[in-house]
Amino acid sequence: MSRRWLSGKWTCRGSGRVRSGLGNVWGGERRGVIAQGYEAGGHRGTFLAQSLKSASFSQPGTLALVPQVVDAVKVPVIAAGGIADGRGIAAAFALGAAGTQLGTAYLLCPEAATSELHREALRHAYSDATFVTNVFTGRPARAISNRLALELGPILDALPDFPLPIGALAPLRAKAEQQGSSDFTPFWSGQVSPLAREMPAMGAHAQIGAGSSRSIEVTSELVR
Ligand SMILES: Cc1cc2nc3c(=O)[nH]c(=O)nc-3n(C[C@H](O)[C@H](O)[C@H](O)COP(=O)(O)O)c2cc1C
Repeated sequence: MSRRWLSGKWTCRGSGRVRSGLGNVWGGERRGVIAQGYEAGGHRGTFLAQSLKSASFSQPGTLALVPQVVDAVKVPVIAAGGIADGRGIAAAFALGAAGTQLGTAYLLCPEAATSELHREALRHAYSDATFVTNVFTGRPARAISNRLALELGPILDALPDFPLPIGALAPLRAKAEQQGSSDFTPFWSGQVSPLAREMPAMGAHAQIGAGSSRSIEVTSELVR
C-alpha cells in the first residue's frame, strides 16, 4: 500500500475545517487518512502550505487534530505524532482513531537504520530536545536541535527548494561526522524519544501491544 502526503484541503469536503498534518493511505482508492500532529518526528503533512513559517508553527497537536479529522472524513483515521506506548494508543482510540502510526518509538530498535551518532543523541534527548526546522532539507521536519538549526533556523524563509539543501550540506556534514560532531546532521525525532525502547522491534511491538490492551481496559473502567 503506497502512502502520499497531501495538505488534505480536498480530503475534508464535509463540515470539517482541517487542512494540515494530513496524509492519505492509498491502495487503488483512498482507504484512510493519517492525522499527524505537531509532536511527530521527521517531515510532516504540510508540503503544500503557502508559508513554511506559518505551517511550521500552526500545525495542531495530535490531541486536538484527531477528533476534528474523525468528524470531517468518512474513512478510517490513523493517529500519528507523540504516540509511543499503550497509553498513547488507548488515547488515540478514545479520540476516535481506527489505528495509530508510531515512528520515534522504534528508532532505537536494532532493526532501524538509525546511525550510532543519532542513537546517542536519542538516548540523551529530553522531551523538549526537538524542534521543527527546515534548514536540513528545505521542508519542515522535527529533529533534535543542533548547531546548524539553532544558528540558521529553526525556520529559514530563503532556502533552496526541497531537497537541495541536503546535497549542499553533505560535504560539511561528512567532515563533521568524521570528527564525531553532529553539528550539521539531522537527527529526526519526535517529542517522545525518551519513551523509545532499545530492544528488538518484535519485543517493543509486543510490549506496546500489551500496554495498549491494559490502557484500553483501564480507560473502559473509568468511563463505565
Ligand atoms: C526518522 C523519521 C523519519 C520520518 N520521515 C518522514 C518523511 O520523510 N515523510 C513524512 O511524511 N513523515 C516522516 N516521518 C513521520 C512518520 O511518518 C510518522 O508520522 C511519525 O513518526 C509519527 O510520530 P512519532 O514520531 O511521534 O511517532 C518520519 C518520522 C521519523 C521518526
